[in-house]
Amino acid sequence: MLSYKHGYHAGNHADVIKHIILLYLYNIEKKGENSISYIDTHSGNGIYKYISRYMDKNKEYKDGIKKIQNYKGNNILIKNYLSTITKITGKNNYYPGSPIFISSISNKKDKLFFCELHNNEYDLLKKNLNNYTNIKVLNVDGFNFTFNKVNKEKNYFIFVDPSYEIKDDFDKVEHILNNIDNLFSKSKIIIWYPVLNILENDDFIQNIRKKGIGNIINIEVPIMKYGDNIGLQGSGLLLINFTNRSIMKNLKEVIQEIQNILKKEENSTRAKLRYL
Ligand SMILES: C[S@@+](CC[C@H](N)C(=O)[O-])C[C@H]1O[C@@H](n2cnc3c(N)ncnc32)[C@H](O)[C@@H]1O
Repeated sequence: MLSYKHGYHAGNHADVIKHIILLYLYNIEKKGENSISYIDTHSGNGIYKYISRYMDKNKEYKDGIKKIQNYKGNNILIKNYLSTITKITGKNNYYPGSPIFISSISNKKDKLFFCELHNNEYDLLKKNLNNYTNIKVLNVDGFNFTFNKVNKEKNYFIFVDPSYEIKDDFDKVEHILNNIDNLFSKSKIIIWYPVLNILENDDFIQNIRKKGIGNIINIEVPIMKYGDNIGLQGSGLLLINFTNRSIMKNLKEVIQEIQNILKKEENSTRAKLRYL
C-alpha cells in the first residue's frame, strides 16, 4: 500500500536541486545527434498546485522554490530551470514534476517512458501529459520496468527518484548499482537519495564506494548542519556514466549557489561534489 504523495513535498529544497541538475544533464544529452530514450522510474503525477490540500499542508515549497524563484544571480543552470518553469506554468500557481520538466524540453524524436505505481497519480499523470506525443505513461513498478527494458547494447537516460517510504527502495537502488558494469554500462543514470540519518547516510555512501563503480559522481547538498535533527537535512544525487568534461566545474558552481540560497543555518555542513 503506497501512502506517499509527492504533492506534499513538491517544490521543496530537494526538488529544486534534483530538477536543476536533471534539466542540466538532459540538455547536455540533447546536444548529441541521437534521440534519447528516457525512463523516469518514479514519476509522480506531473504537476502540483500551490493552493491545494497537498502543497499547502506543510508548505515545504517555502524552503525550496519560493526561496529561489526571484533569483537575480548569474548561474545559467538556475536561470534555465526558472525560465523552464515559467514556460511550463505561465503564472506561479503550479510547480512542475520531473515528467513535465523533461517532456517540455524533449525533442519530438526522444522516447520518454514514465512509470508510476500509484493508481491515482498514474491517472493524473496521463491527463497531465496528454499534449505530448513522444511519451508512454505506465502503471508499473519502475525498477522492474527498467530491468526488463534496458539492455547492455543501448544507451538509456534513467532518472531514479523513489520516495524511500519503504526500506526496500534502498535495496532496489543497490541492485541497480550492482549492475552498472554489465546491464547499464552504456546508460546514464541519475539516482536521488534523501539525507535523514547521518550515520545511515555515511554507510550508504561507503557501501557505494566499495563497489568500485568506474564513473560515479556524488552531489550532496545539506541545508543545515548535519546532526541529530529530524527530517530531511539535505539530499543527494548519484550521477553515473556522465563523462562530459565541463560537468564538474558547472556542478561545483551550481551546488554552491543553491546551498547559499536554500540553507537554513549559516553553519550548514558543506555541500559535496566528488567521485565515489
Ligand atoms: C518522489 S515521488 C516522484 C517525484 C517525481 N520524480 C518528480 O521529480 O516530480 C515518487 C513517486 O513514485 C511512486 N512510486 C512508489 N514506488 C514506485 C515503484 N516501485 N514504481 C513506480 N512508481 C513508484 C509514488 O507513488 C510517487 O508518486
